[in-house]
Order: sequence, then C-alpha cells, then structure tokens
Amino acid sequence: MTATGKNLTAYVNGHFLPLEKASVHIEDRGFQFADGVYEVVACIHGHFLDLGPHLNRLDQSCAAIDIVVPCLRTHLEELIRETWQRNPFDDAMIYIQVTRGVAPRAHLAPDTLTPTLIITSRELPRPSDEKLASGASGITLEDFRWKRCDIKSIALLASVMGKQEAHRQHADEAFWVDAEGHVLEGSSTNIFATIDHKLVTHPLDHQVLGGITRSMTIQLAKKAGIEVEERPWMLNEAGLNECMLTSTTNAILPVCHMNDAAVGNGKPGPMAAKLRALVLEAMDALRREPPVRRS
Ligand SMILES: Cc1ncc(COP(=O)(O)O)c(C=O)c1O
Repeated sequence: MTATGKNLTAYVNGHFLPLEKASVHIEDRGFQFADGVYEVVACIHGHFLDLGPHLNRLDQSCAAIDIVVPCLRTHLEELIRETWQRNPFDDAMIYIQVTRGVAPRAHLAPDTLTPTLIITSRELPRPSDEKLASGASGITLEDFRWKRCDIKSIALLASVMGKQEAHRQHADEAFWVDAEGHVLEGSSTNIFATIDHKLVTHPLDHQVLGGITRSMTIQLAKKAGIEVEERPWMLNEAGLNECMLTSTTNAILPVCHMNDAAVGNGKPGPMAAKLRALVLEAMDALRREPPVRRS
C-alpha cells in the first residue's frame, strides 16, 4: 500500500471510489461555509483505537450544529471498517467528515438537506525519531478562534494560521493562550504540563476540544498513580518542568521549547516518557489482537 495517495479508495455518500474520482458538489455547505464536523481515528492492524469515544464526539459535534449523522452508528462503523479494508495500512488514520449537505449558497440552510458523509483511510503519521529525541517546540499565540472550540468543526482557518505562524518561527505547534496567559491547547493538539510532579491540563470547556488522546492520557495517568489536575495553568508557574502535547496522530510528544526558551531542562522528561510508553502499550495491545481481514 503506497502512502502517496495513489490507489487509495474513498467513501463518498454511499459509494467507494478511487480517491482522485471522489468529489463533492461545489455547493456543498462544507465547501461554502465550513458547515460541518469531522473525526480522526487511529486504526492499528485493523483495530480502531477508542472508536466509541470518537463516534460519541462526532455525535456531540453534529448535535451541537444540528446535523443528523446520515446513517446509524452500526452502519457507520461498517463503512469505517470497509474504508480501512480497502486501504489497509498497518497503522492507519481514518478521516470522517459530515457536512450539512448541498444547497444553493445562502447562510440559512433548508431543513430538508441530506448530510454529506466522506471517509478516507491513510497512513497514520507519527513523530520522527529525531523529534521524539529532541522534543517538539512551540510558540504561544493569543487565542483568536471562536468560542465553541469544543465542537470538532471543519472551520479550521485559525488553526491553519496558527500552524503557519509556528512554522514561520521554526516551531512545530502553536499553542493558544487566553487573555490572562493560561495555556489552552494547540492548533491541533491538547497540552499538559508537569507541575510539582502533578499532570496539569486546562479543564474541558468551550476553549478546548475534548481530545480523545487527552482523556486516554488522563485515565492512564490516574491508573499509574499520577495526580491529575484539570485547571487553568500558565507557562511561568513555579514547579513547571515539562510540557507535552497529545493528539491521535502524535500520541504523546514532549514539548521542550516554548517561544525559544527551554521548558524545564529543555529535554524530554520522565512524565512524558512514562505516559507515552503507556499510550504506545495500548496501541501495541491492538497489534496483538487477532488479525482483521484486508480486502
Ligand atoms: C484543536 C484540537 N485540540 C485537540 C486535538 C486532539 O484531539 P484527539 O486527541 O482526539 O486527536 C485536536 C485534533 O485534531 C484538535 O484539532
């Protein structure tokens, strides 16, 4: 299976098509208004990591913008599985997008629309060995996004601008801070700090996405006896000696520089190493499960 996009098959509104032939109407409201939501799920040897929580979040995102997922949960799971079977990467990244559907361009949508559903499967990206060894670098930006960051919206212009600014400053990720300087989350990641041996992250509210990796990390940390605090925090807090980002595509990655200054001693720390090992162990457990048929 190539990772280039050649020979890939996509699901679009009831049909599996070669990726280059898969398209949606120019009046799709996703294209016109970013009127839609999405999910990204990791699939390890055909076994999906936390598929239930991802589909629950998809339901929540759809409900928040008054879209009905255009098929039952069981059928959606079958479509996701079949999309992977037609693009059976060992470690895959399943992308699911639901938009309100197609209509002549007007802000107010008719309430008769059939939502658009697309699903793709590509190779799951992972941080390079060099990045894991050095840790990632970040910049902070005052949050200029909207006030419903809890919805996994496809309207990602602010995130794209944040990522571009990070890249321009030779950093890997832009982290949003509120007007008081509390660190919220990254442009496509959540962020934790180690402060006085406790794992600290911003609480779930309208300023952050409830990351599935975030909640997995919290569960694994608690199980390992690590104290977790979900509270607003700042980079200059006394006792802060590690930061780490979480996302489906990164699992857990230490963040060792922020705005060109070292976080702690500027090297990946023990908390990030321990939690990353626990998340990777959960992925490896899926690798050991009975093989899934690939078409
Ligand atoms: C803004 C934002 N926060 C956090 C995350 C991480 O979420 P997850 O762990 O579910 O991949 C993402 C992922 O796309 C994101 O876009």
